[in-house]
Amino acid sequence: MSITILGIESSCDDTSASVLRDGVIHSNIIATQTVHMAYGGVVPELASRAHQQNIIPVVDQALKKANITADEIDAVAFTRGPGLLGSLMVGTSFAKGFALSKNIPLIEVNHLQAHILAHFIDDLQNTYDHPGFPFLALLVSGGNSQIIVVKDHMDMEVIGETIDDAAGEAFDKCAKVMGIPYPGGPIIDKKAKEGNPLAFEFSRPKIQGLNYSFSGLKTSFLYFIRDRVKENPNFIQENLNDLCASLQYTIVDVLMNKVKRAVRETGIKEVAIAGGVSANSGLQNALHEAADKHGWKVYIPQLGYSLDNAAMIAITGYFKYLKKEFVEQDTAPFARMTIK
Ligand code: KG4
Repeated sequence: MSITILGIESSCDDTSASVLRDGVIHSNIIATQTVHMAYGGVVPELASRAHQQNIIPVVDQALKKANITADEIDAVAFTRGPGLLGSLMVGTSFAKGFALSKNIPLIEVNHLQAHILAHFIDDLQNTYDHPGFPFLALLVSGGNSQIIVVKDHMDMEVIGETIDDAAGEAFDKCAKVMGIPYPGGPIIDKKAKEGNPLAFEFSRPKIQGLNYSFSGLKTSFLYFIRDRVKENPNFIQENLNDLCASLQYTIVDVLMNKVKRAVRETGIKEVAIAGGVSANSGLQNALHEAADKHGWKVYIPQLGYSLDNAAMIAITGYFKYLKKEFVEQDTAPFARMTIK
């Protein structure tokens, strides 16, 4: 018998719905909110309101694109957390209402786990190479920087994480210092391609073990720019590509050094990257280089499955459906959730 799951994601500023049938994604619709660009970051109240406007059209489009009716859905999987509470409430409430009206099971999904399980997605266009267990995952997004040993779909152990800012936050906050709108990560990536990564040097954190820290880099970048702009008010404009390239080179180097250490310590040579920052071309190139040099097998998610999306929620929901891991109607969203 075939299994059809509707996935709902609304943890931050993307409203997304996806339909999965028997482990294969049939649609993945993402409505990105542009309202936050003017504010230099996501404004929670505006995000919740935009989710409310988007959720029904996005689900409707996902069903239509998949050519599957609401009555054919066997279960609804939704992001329970972590994320912005008001945003999560929109997706959670919709999922509950849908499950109740169709009398079908409800499946809660941890957004962080889902980013990693995006590596098990196949879609109507392609089947992809999936990692084998155990593998290492570098989860890098706007809210997280973690190194995780993935032992099974639902069995993950965090062996390193940031003690302050996340890598995506470092990209976005440094971008803001240069006058680049939110989210700055993709723009820095684009400009870095035209710049010299060795033009400027920024301080690197000296953190023990497998943990990360990015707040020092952000501060050193801020002071560096402030001092140079005092000498030359056009410093940023005249050096933008080199600044982006050097900043990206530093962040990627910090990320990769700990991944290399994790590979040495665990002996696991299969490495997957996940989360929004996994779209970064510098990080992807560094990973491929390490694979060639050290004999690793590496996995990079497709762009549509690396940024926040509901396909990753649907595939995680599918694995939970197979184990009959359902939740009740009184389930509430959590702003804070970790990988257990
Ligand atoms: O996973 P995600 O879509 O949202 C959450 O944080 O949950 O990640 C968003 C983050 C932002 O910080 C954004 O600047 C960063 O991912 N990002 C990138 C790139 N694309 C997205 N950072 C660097 N290079 C990119 N190409």
